[in-house]
Amino acid sequence: MKLQEHFVQSVRLYYKAKGEAWLQQLPKLIQYCEQKWSIKLKEPYFLSINYVAPATMEDGTEIVVKICIPDEGFLNELEALQLFANDRMVSLIDSDKRYGIIVLKKLSPGHTLAEVNNDEDACYIAAHLIKAITKPAPVHTRIPTTGSREEQLRQLVYVNPNGVGPISQQTLDQALRIFTYLHQTTKFYKLLHGDFHHYNVLASENGTWTAIDPKGLIGEVEYDLIQYMLNKLPVHNAYDVIKKRVEIFTEELHLDKERLLLWGYCHTVLATAWTVDEDRSYNTQFFGGIEIFEKLYKANFGDVTYLTS
Ligand SMILES: Nc1ncnc2c1ncn2[C@@H]1O[C@H](COP(=O)(O)OP(=O)(O)OP(=O)(O)O)[C@@H](O)[C@H]1O
Ligand SMILES: [Mg+2]
Repeated sequence: MKLQEHFVQSVRLYYKAKGEAWLQQLPKLIQYCEQKWSIKLKEPYFLSINYVAPATMEDGTEIVVKICIPDEGFLNELEALQLFANDRMVSLIDSDKRYGIIVLKKLSPGHTLAEVNNDEDACYIAAHLIKAITKPAPVHTRIPTTGSREEQLRQLVYVNPNGVGPISQQTLDQALRIFTYLHQTTKFYKLLHGDFHHYNVLASENGTWTAIDPKGLIGEVEYDLIQYMLNKLPVHNAYDVIKKRVEIFTEELHLDKERLLLWGYCHTVLATAWTVDEDRSYNTQFFGGIEIFEKLYKANFGDVTYLTS
């Protein structure tokens, strides 16, 4: 079976031996899906670390089958799909917890929000979608809170006392202080998408837009918008683009701009750290975002102790 080369590399890099074993099993897992749901999987989409392919059920329903390593992330995504159950979130048709399989309704035409060229138009679409899917946090859930992100950063600081890749120790410390401050002052916990960005928003029937791929997270709405703001940035003038996105989100969703910028700062530090590779390469756009959120904060709210000390 011929698999996309970058997919094989990513699975090996991310999951190590477990990923290698899963790749070996993949032909059998595909066969298992085909038998269980009486389908024939078509060519997969452009893959990252899960095997995702369309198919047609016997009754003609167009579906997408997503085969994942059945770990924590898979279980969180499955629960998030069940909890969201909303017409602006992709519908879950069936699942198989044992083998890490999710069966979704196929969205058509299915192109992503990245194909909307006008950045402001795309941002309004994103804001309205977030408004439609966000809901109060459930009382009992396995889905982690944004506190887990603060803990990830704390671990990073602990393991890398002199900084991570291009991120200085001072920046890491500052981001951690801001994370702590924000969690100490959070009032409303919501069920969040957890990986909301242009490529996880697909064009669907009747000109609507639908979210896919919710990783699931519990926290403030402001947090869910940061990953979107770091994506699809121009090489030059990213500052103005992020500034405009911040304005649109703040107005459309009635958000607290100060907290949005602070979440922006600390999440961007963490997101940049995630991209630092063994060869010390990293996502330069994310790295540039750290300074942009800091500058925007200063322009709007001036120097505050938790940003400057
Ligand atoms: N319900 C759907 N309808 C149509 N296309 C879909 C659907 N679900 C997924 N896809 C396609 O498959 C691709 C991968 O899906 P998805 O984002 O869920 O996988 P992933 O492995 O979690 O990806 P990543 O980690 O890159 O976000 C999507 O970008 C999209 O092109
Ligand atoms: Mg995705």
